Amino acid sequence: MIIDDRKRVAVMASGRGSNFEALCRGDTGTGKVVLLLSDRKDARVLERAAELGVGSAVIDPGSYRTRMGISEEERCARTLEEEGIDLVCLAGFMRMLKGPLLEAYDGRIMNIHPALLPAFPGLEAQRQAFEYGVKYSGCTVHYVDAGMDTGPIILQEVVEVLDEDTVSSLSARILEREHVIYPRAVNLHCAGRLRVDGRKVRLLPQGS
Ligand code: GRF
Repeated sequence: MIIDDRKRVAVMASGRGSNFEALCRGDTGTGKVVLLLSDRKDARVLERAAELGVGSAVIDPGSYRTRMGISEEERCARTLEEEGIDLVCLAGFMRMLKGPLLEAYDGRIMNIHPALLPAFPGLEAQRQAFEYGVKYSGCTVHYVDAGMDTGPIILQEVVEVLDEDTVSSLSARILEREHVIYPRAVNLHCAGRLRVDGRKVRLLPQGS
């Protein structure tokens, strides 16, 4: 008997889609990106999905600007369930989740943030860090809860801020590291090696 232990991963994104592509191309282990959902019909990420042969759909986010509407979130959760999705990865998805999707996928939604949380949550994190004058910034993959970038932290990577940096050169170096840690986090989750214990995400040994 062949047992298919692959985990079906969906990505939700609003823009450029470089993290989506990194998740498609990277070593995600038993996790496989099978679906892209975007709330913007003109998003570059939709072209990337077509180029990579990943199925995609444009979702209706509802009438709010910075979050999904409740019934739209419900519909989105239903779509993900119908597609047999095991894990949802937000990758530059510019809306907060508040209700039905969080409930349906509790502990199974991740996000990538371009700063070392809990510092500099929210928009333009690289600029916030740069203008604050930090010597080190970086990126964070975390599970998603109802707060703004507040869920339990899975992986982080540090990036040094150089004297000659601009916001854009710093952002580019952070992005390179995002493309490494996001697939790694998905790999660990899909291998069953992450256990959430309150605020802490424990990394279990291989084969456990
Ligand atoms: C990344 O910087 C990510 O950390 C943030 O949004 C940006 C998305 O970039 N959440 P891309 O669309 O994946 O290229």
